Order: sequence, then structure tokens, then C-alpha cells
Amino acid sequence: VPNVQELAGTCNGPDKQIPERYIRPEASSEEVIINNNHGNMSIPIIDLAKLLSPQSSEEECVKLRSACQYWGFFQVINHGVSDEVIENLRKNLVEFFSQPLDAKKKYSQMPNNLEGYGQGFVVSDNQKLDWADMLYLQVQPSDSRDLRFWPTYPASFRHSIEAYSSETENIALCLLQFMAKAVGVEPKSLLSIFEEPIKGMRMNYYPPCWQADKVLGLSPHTDPGGLTLLLQVNDVQGLQIKKDGKWFSVNTLNGALIVNIGDTLEILSNGKFRSVEHRAVINPSRERISAALFHYPCQNLVISPLPDFVKDGKVNYKTITYQDLLTEYFTAELDGRNRLEKMKL
Ligand code: SIN
Ligand code: FE2
Repeated sequence: VPNVQELAGTCNGPDKQIPERYIRPEASSEEVIINNNHGNMSIPIIDLAKLLSPQSSEEECVKLRSACQYWGFFQVINHGVSDEVIENLRKNLVEFFSQPLDAKKKYSQMPNNLEGYGQGFVVSDNQKLDWADMLYLQVQPSDSRDLRFWPTYPASFRHSIEAYSSETENIALCLLQFMAKAVGVEPKSLLSIFEEPIKGMRMNYYPPCWQADKVLGLSPHTDPGGLTLLLQVNDVQGLQIKKDGKWFSVNTLNGALIVNIGDTLEILSNGKFRSVEHRAVINPSRERISAALFHYPCQNLVISPLPDFVKDGKVNYKTITYQDLLTEYFTAELDGRNRLEKMKL
């Protein structure tokens, strides 16, 4: 499929047609609620410093619980990742994507493999396509890294990813621990599934489109794994999440990390934590860049609700191996929450 950055460069005005495969009537057919970080219509803001401090932990846990039950998404502030590490990653990503296509093509994806530079979720010749390019890297464990796909320009790129991944390492585990606590569950069984860091990072490049309301940057989907940490790389917003049947645009606070819950966590928690549908929309005049760090469960996991989360004895989900869940995810088109809904008993 075409490189979208290049395509955007050639379809850049009203006299140029956008190829049919990118036209998405659903992009503008549903109502969108603008999220402004105020009041109960905005995605919750969780203060990690408050969670960790004995005086405020309980109160913050109540917020965390409702964030996980009703939103499946929240913003974390006071997360402890240094500004420098975030700024370096941001700068490097902007620089990487702004290179000429040939320089990026050195890291192109190979057939039937997501890793590298290219486009995500292309599974058939007649599906609709997303208005985005990406660079996907397996980041942890470190011996799973395939350095053929790790850019050497900008010179600090590899280091920036490593530093960001290691500085965020404790956040995910810490949040999982408080999430379990927040719903009255002993964290141990949940933590053991995510203890060993297995992480991948998807860096998304969304070119502008003069018909922005006719295309989608990333189709509605849920994330398959555990927690995702999403970094808004430049100052162009575009993430939308579905709540009560309506799209909410997320306005990321500067310096905050967005956290969301994936399918594996919804099933393990027997539905106490929700894996919420989300998508990315396109800006008419400006590029957008984001970076999603996925935390995956251990490879051989058989996913079913953990006994600790099934206090009333009713199991709400079927059992699936993590490998099957991933295979289903990567061999079909993105499809909102539908795949997960089929897992419900
Ligand atoms: C994602 O769903 O992983 C990315 C969404 C975004 O770019 O904001
Ligand atoms: Fe996602």
C-alpha cells in the first residue's frame, strides 16, 4: 500500500482526489464531544504522586477505579518520567519522520510482519486504509530487539527509546498494583502476568489531509494487551475514545501520559477494567505524531478471568490463549470492540 506521507504530499488541495480506499464516511457521521479537561465529561486525570503518598492514596484510588470502570482511559500526571527523556524522544521522532522517504525506507517492514517502517493493519486488498504511516519496534525484552529496524538517525534515536522505555517501566506495574487494590483485589496474580517486561512501541505519523473529515488516521479498535502508555508527541491532538456510544476527543495535558486498558486486562479482570474503543482523526493542515508503548502479558498466557476477580462466581468471558488473541488481532481488520464482545459469555 502507498506511503501516506508521500500520498498526502500529492493530494494536497481541492483539485486533487483522495483515493477511494481512504474515504471513510463514518469519520464524520457520528457526534463528537469535545473534551476540555474540566468536569465529568473529561477523561480522568490520575496523579501518580498522590497514589503513592499514604495520605492521599485512598482518595486517588477511588478516582482510578472509576477511570478503569467507566472510561478505560486516563491521563497520568506526576508520573516521574523526566522532561528530558520525553523531550528527546519527541524531538527524535519529529526528526525521523521528517526525513525523505528513502531514508525511512531503509527500515521498511518485511512481508507479513508488523515490525519496521510502513503501515499497520493491512490484511486484504479491498479493505479501507488508514491515513497514517508508522514505525513499530519490539522494545523488550532487549534480546528480542531486531536492530535492523532501529533507526540510526537521529543519532540519539535508539537511546531515546531505550531511556523512555526504562523510565516508564515502573509506571505500568505501579498502576496495575493500584488498579487491583482499587477494586479490592490482591495484586499478586495480576502483577505476575506483567512482571517480565514485554513491550512494543508503535510510533504513528499522521499527515495532514485537506479533506480531514473524510479520512481516519487509525480505525476504531481496542488494544489487545495489558496497559498502553500513549505519548502525544507534537501539539496536534487527534485521539478520540468511545463512551456511552459517543466519541470523545481527548485533549492531552502537556506532560501527561495517556494510559488505556487492553483486551487482555479486561478479560483477566472479568470486566472490572474496560478495554475501550478508540480511534485517531486527522488534522486538515498539520501533521500529528504519537507514540504508543504497549505492555504485553507473558507469551504463553492462557487468558481467562482471574479467580480473584470472580468473587461472585460468575465468569463473564471465554478462555483464549494470548497467541490466538494476537493472531486474531493481526489477521483481521480493526473492528472496534466487536472481537472482544464475542469473547463475552
Ligand atoms: C493508538 O491507538 O495506539 C494511537 C492513538 C493515537 O495516535 O492517539
Ligand atoms: Fe490503540
